[in-house]
Amino acid sequence: MIFEQIATGGCQSYFVGCGDTRIAALIDPEIRQVDHYLALAAQMGVRIHYIIDTHTHADHFSAAKQLGASLGVPVVMHQQSPAPFAGLRLDDGEMLVIGKLRLHAIHTPGHTADSMCLVVEDRVLTGDTLLIGGTGRTDLPSGDPDQLYDSLFNKLLTLDPTLKVYPAHDYKGRSHSTIADELANNPRLQKRERGEFTAMMRQLNLSAPDHITEALRTNMTGGKTVTQLLTEAGATVPFMSFAELQSRLNARSNDLIILDVREKGAFEAGHIPGARHLPRGQLELRVNQDLPDPTLRIVVYCEVGKISTLAAATLRQLGFMRASSLDGGMTAWREGGLPVATSA
Ligand SMILES: [Fe+2]
Repeated sequence: MIFEQIATGGCQSYFVGCGDTRIAALIDPEIRQVDHYLALAAQMGVRIHYIIDTHTHADHFSAAKQLGASLGVPVVMHQQSPAPFAGLRLDDGEMLVIGKLRLHAIHTPGHTADSMCLVVEDRVLTGDTLLIGGTGRTDLPSGDPDQLYDSLFNKLLTLDPTLKVYPAHDYKGRSHSTIADELANNPRLQKRERGEFTAMMRQLNLSAPDHITEALRTNMTGGKTVTQLLTEAGATVPFMSFAELQSRLNARSNDLIILDVREKGAFEAGHIPGARHLPRGQLELRVNQDLPDPTLRIVVYCEVGKISTLAAATLRQLGFMRASSLDGGMTAWREGGLPVATSA
């Protein structure tokens, strides 16, 4: 068996592959590691046939949709996953065939309704159902302490105690443990009576993970993260530094339009001298009257350079093929000590 664990902060992803056929599955991929996974697959000499998410993640951005689409392979999740991009949905007791390997799915709701654990040979990938010295929380959407109790004590923990446990998270740099170790040492598993266990889970009072709403939105729907949207726009436009723009203004090379796309109040309070004002929200509707010549060179700016990147990308889509974005926006301009104009 080919088995590789890849940590991204506290998140763990896994390659599970068949050494004979070089067929592999990638489990719980994280969006920032997409290039890393593909490079690793090439280095290991395996071809990815399945992308699997053990559950709907609330704490990080899944790369499942992106990798499934770019590799042309199914995204595998549990039957109850809300993700519309899950092309292969497993029910409890079903298997995936990965070359000569058999990956067994066990439905283990509790952390989320769509959580599953995956048993392969001498190990079990437990997702967030069972962690080393802990369990997944049950207070996020679709979580349920009663279901987690059943999934743990009546399913997962009844498996062979020598099975190695590989969780979807570990924040202390540990790789794995075993079912027996967890039964003996995991503090949460010492509450073996249902009422005690569910009361403990209800009283954990954990803070919400960072980016929870964005992670749930993108992982449940396959929509883009804000960072992805900005990165994609940024890949289609060139940028100009404030120093370059200033030297062009000083040289009076009057061949470009400086376009401020912030709201009215921000423009009036201080803008680059000579800039025209066209708020991003009105861009498409006013572009024909405000910018009649599509051959003009346009430098778009906003406060920090994000909205202007989206606006410059939109202008390029509209045919303004010389639109660029001011790197760092008005903030960089101001911090560079350059002149600022005001208007009433
Ligand atoms: Fe999770």
